[in-house]
Amino acid sequence: ILKKSIAEESTAGGMQLKDCSSITEHLESLFAQAIASAFPKYSDTPVVIAPVNSSSAKFGDYQCNNAMGLSKKFKESGINKNPREIATELKGHCPSSPIIEKLEVAGAGFVNVFLSKDFAALALSNLLRNGVKPPQVPKKRVLVDFSSPNIAKQMHVGHLRSTIIGESVCRLLEFLQHDVIRVNHLGDWGTQFGMLIAHLEDRFPNYLNESPPISDLQLFYKESKKRFDEDEEFKKRAYSRVVSLQKGVPNSIKAWELICNVSRKEFQTIYERLDISIKERGESFYQSRMLSVVEYLRGKALLEEDEGREIMWPDDTKTGIPLTIVKSDGGFTYDTSDMAAIRHRVEEELCDWIIYVVDSGQSTHFNTIFKAAERCAILKPRSHRVDHVQFGVVLGEDGKKFKTRSGDTVKLADLLDEGMKRSLQQLESRGRDKVLTPQELKDAQQSLAYGCIKYSDLCHNRISDYIFSFDKMLEDRGNTAVYLLYTYTRICSIARNSGEDFSNLSEILKKVKIELTHEKEWKLAKTLLKLHDILIKCSKELFLHFLCEFCYEVCTVFTEFYDSCYCIEKNKLGEIIEVNHSRILLCEATAAVLRQCFYILGLKPVSKM
Ligand code: ARG
Repeated sequence: ILKKSIAEESTAGGMQLKDCSSITEHLESLFAQAIASAFPKYSDTPVVIAPVNSSSAKFGDYQCNNAMGLSKKFKESGINKNPREIATELKGHCPSSPIIEKLEVAGAGFVNVFLSKDFAALALSNLLRNGVKPPQVPKKRVLVDFSSPNIAKQMHVGHLRSTIIGESVCRLLEFLQHDVIRVNHLGDWGTQFGMLIAHLEDRFPNYLNESPPISDLQLFYKESKKRFDEDEEFKKRAYSRVVSLQKGVPNSIKAWELICNVSRKEFQTIYERLDISIKERGESFYQSRMLSVVEYLRGKALLEEDEGREIMWPDDTKTGIPLTIVKSDGGFTYDTSDMAAIRHRVEEELCDWIIYVVDSGQSTHFNTIFKAAERCAILKPRSHRVDHVQFGVVLGEDGKKFKTRSGDTVKLADLLDEGMKRSLQQLESRGRDKVLTPQELKDAQQSLAYGCIKYSDLCHNRISDYIFSFDKMLEDRGNTAVYLLYTYTRICSIARNSGEDFSNLSEILKKVKIELTHEKEWKLAKTLLKLHDILIKCSKELFLHFLCEFCYEVCTVFTEFYDSCYCIEKNKLGEIIEVNHSRILLCEATAAVLRQCFYILGLKPVSKM
């Protein structure tokens, strides 16, 4: 059983550093040094490192593609140097590194990088010993504005997308050790509250002493809207309630709170079901800050009168759509609250990165807010990063706007219930109800239901529209949550079925060395080690589908490995005759990597499914 002890263990300290940066970043720094030392004149050339498709293994694992560009630069300055020559010099000047087995110049002038197996084995041992560690990135204080439904209105599938994507963005950035503030920019302020309060006063005159039994706030909203449109006296009172609410008159505040609480409860059940954590800081929070941001903008002479309104142009060209900062009746708008909010986030929360997870329909709004905030010096492009993490609309299977059969908007709670029903059917169709205990079945059902809803949203490029289909998302083949969760469960069962105890990995690693001799073992190891590259790529562009694709790749490469490499060998009687410890460690490393990715994607794996 005991494999040779690893002599390289002693050098682990030196290698650990590399464990924490991504392979691509590490190679970038090596080749930057190579360029600087071979061609000092061009030392500021951005390094181009690309991963090599794993099916063309003879070209190595990564490629430095700078020779072509450098050759061009030489030519422009009158020197003829062909790319192959340059590639050879880059190869010669590249500092040696424990992660590189060898470099080769190939084709038109590529430098192919072959990763070292010793390094990979060591990195995987460290991963098993210490858990999956994040790659090192510069730390930021980042605020993520997501979910953000509106009081008294339906929380719809657009908000569901924002909730799912926002939660995963937070988890990703938290894993990268950023300081993350999760904010629910609830639509809890504005003129609609005037009519809601006036209607509450009429329907439940005793509201100050007894909580009004409103179960259907949408209906309540419709009723009050109808009265508002038809009844002049009511309309007047509604307006006066807006004023008293903004002034902070206690009875109006109380009524407003009662109404908000009804919605709040509904939202909370959705958040609990989907395991979302978020802090409420609705538009109302900014009331006093709206007053002061208006003063601030007036002071800078950035507001212009326009038919009784006060508007602000995003930049000096005065083109595009201006923001409406103060309405002609003196009230504030969505624009005002977002200007107040961005100022609060920068100046009071001291954030250097703000992320808005909101549908693409609002991209003009956010672009204008970002530009205006820069124009009035709230945002400083050098020190602040702002992103509108936009996403497309959710479509039904008919390719049209997502609706129920009867044409109504789909209630999120109903949607989640449907998911639960369908995932149970899925499990039953596989006969899992006969094998699992009732509790295990319930856990599996939840894991599948919420997992597939989240994953089908995250696995596509968020910018495109996406078709919501339970049939598609519950398929057990292809890039689906079901496939990933099943594969994960299968991987976890391997160590369990070996008849040996794999719970103390550090102990096992003292005796067993990870071997990467078989082609499929090596392929799996290299795939797992791409994790850091992928996490960095996801966080740079705030796209989670790269992480989903990575999980899918890990699962398919694992399956190739498992199909061709015995982990546990059995005789004809089904008795275990040999356990390959190194391979089981590879299985465990795969499980650890998947577990970390699943956490970011909001998937909750179960050990039996
Ligand atoms: N409540 C808004 C809506 O439902 C989304 C708010 C997004 N966040 C923001 N800071 N504007 O459309």
